[in-house]
Amino acid sequence: GNRTFTMIKPDAVENGHIGAILEKITGAGFNIVAMKYTQLSRRDAQEFYAIHKERPFFGELVEFMTRGPIVAAILEKDNAVDDFRALIGATNPAEAAEGTIRKLFATSIGENAVHGSDSDENAGIEGAFHFSGREVF
Ligand code: GTP
Ligand code: MG
Repeated sequence: GNRTFTMIKPDAVENGHIGAILEKITGAGFNIVAMKYTQLSRRDAQEFYAIHKERPFFGELVEFMTRGPIVAAILEKDNAVDDFRALIGATNPAEAAEGTIRKLFATSIGENAVHGSDSDENAGIEGAFHFSGREVF
């Protein structure tokens, strides 16, 4: 697939990293085909992360993802899902490779600066969750 979905999470927005993260993303060859500044409701976050609802950190994850605004975007590039996950690095920034977005901008395994879809199917579902057809260019 040639598209993935990302969010710049509340921690990175609070810490003033929106511009630097977008520069890393476009500098790595991704085109932004949809983008908005928004805030998840509790229901949005519970639905978006439903796959993790039995995990011990689920409540913390929902609290975190709803505590402030995020940037949501659909990105286009060949091999988008895998290349974007390589660009952001491991879930835990302590384990993320040098130069990755999480290594540079994340603070902890929970507050890890960015989201990236984990499959083409989920990229489609997550993009459609946030954007109507008229908002994708
Ligand atoms: P996403 O791109 O956000 O989906 O991250 P990921 O695919 O690298 O990780 P995963 O889907 O396994 O987990 C989703 C999110 O849950 C992570 O990005 C973290 O924000 C959070 N999370 C995962 N593991 C932990 C944990 O052990 N503790 C806490 N507090 N949060 C966690
Ligand atoms: Mg994930």
